[in-house]
Amino acid sequence: MTAADLNRVRQWLKEARFVVVLTGAGVSAESGVPTYRGAGGLWQGSDFRELASLEGFQRDPKKVWAWYNERRRQLKQVRPNPGHYALAELERRLGGFALITQNVDRLHQAAGSRNVVELHGNIWEVRCTRCGRVEDRTGIELPAEPHCSQCGAWLRPNVVWFGEMLPEHAWQRAESWTRQADLFMVIGTSAEVWPAAGLIHLARQSGARIVEINPHETAASSLADVILRGKSGEILPQLLDAPQPGSSASPEPAASG
Ligand code: OAD
Repeated sequence: MTAADLNRVRQWLKEARFVVVLTGAGVSAESGVPTYRGAGGLWQGSDFRELASLEGFQRDPKKVWAWYNERRRQLKQVRPNPGHYALAELERRLGGFALITQNVDRLHQAAGSRNVVELHGNIWEVRCTRCGRVEDRTGIELPAEPHCSQCGAWLRPNVVWFGEMLPEHAWQRAESWTRQADLFMVIGTSAEVWPAAGLIHLARQSGARIVEINPHETAASSLADVILRGKSGEILPQLLDAPQPGSSASPEPAASG
C-alpha cells in the first residue's frame, strides 16, 4: 500500500455522493473474533455443515446450540476496534453512507454505525422454528436447549445458514444501495460467499469505484480499482485524514479552452 493509494481513496471519499461499504469477518479480527476461513478460522477443523445448516440443526440441535452459546459467550467479551469506529465516524461525516455487513456480531452498531444492513442476520437474536417469532436476547445467557416462550418449539439463532435465503428486506436494501454507490469499499471479506459477493460485481457494473481493504488477496481483488493491503483497524482510521495536497490524488486540473 502506497501513500498515493491511501490519498487517492481519501480523495474519492471526499468526492463521493454515496459510499457503500461491504464488510466481512476480517473487520472484527482485531477485536479478537476469529474469521471463518484460513488458519485459525471457525470453519477450520469443524464440520461447518453440521453447525451452520438447517439439516445439521434438525439432526442435533443441542450440539448446534452448544456451539452458538459458546460463541455468544465469547462475543459478549469483545469490543469494537478502531476499524469499526472509523466506519462509524465516516458515516457521521459523509452525506451518503451505508454499510452492508456479513457479520453477525453487531460490533458495527456497538461502534455507532446506524445505516447498517445485516445480510446474514445476527447471533444475538433468536427465532422460533415453528411460529417464526424473533426475540432480541443480546448478552443474555441462553439455556442449553432454548425453546419458544409462546409455542414451545425449538428456538434457533437468527443467522443465515448454508443453503438458506438471505432475509429479503436486507437483500433488497443492500442491492438498492449498491446500485446507487459511486464508491464501494470491500473490507475484511474473502468474497467467497454468495450472494453477498455478487454485490461487488453489481457495484462494478453500476459504475462505482471499488476499493478493497484486506491483508490478503481475495476473490474481490481483481475487481478493485485500488487495493489497500493491510489490516482494516490500521488502515480505516487513516482514511479519516484529509487528502494531502499536491499528491497524485489531487483532482485533475480542469481542462483548459
Ligand atoms: P472469511 O473468513 O471468509 O474471510 C475473512 C477475510 O478477512 C479474509 O479475506 C482475511 O484475509 C481478512 N482479514 C483477516 N484479518 C483482517 C484484518 N485485520 N483486516 C481486514 N481483513 C482481514 O469471512 P467472510 O468473508 O466474512 O456466513 O465470510 C463470509 C461468510 O462466510 C460469513 O458471513 C459466514 C461464513 O460462512 C454465514 O455464517 C452465513
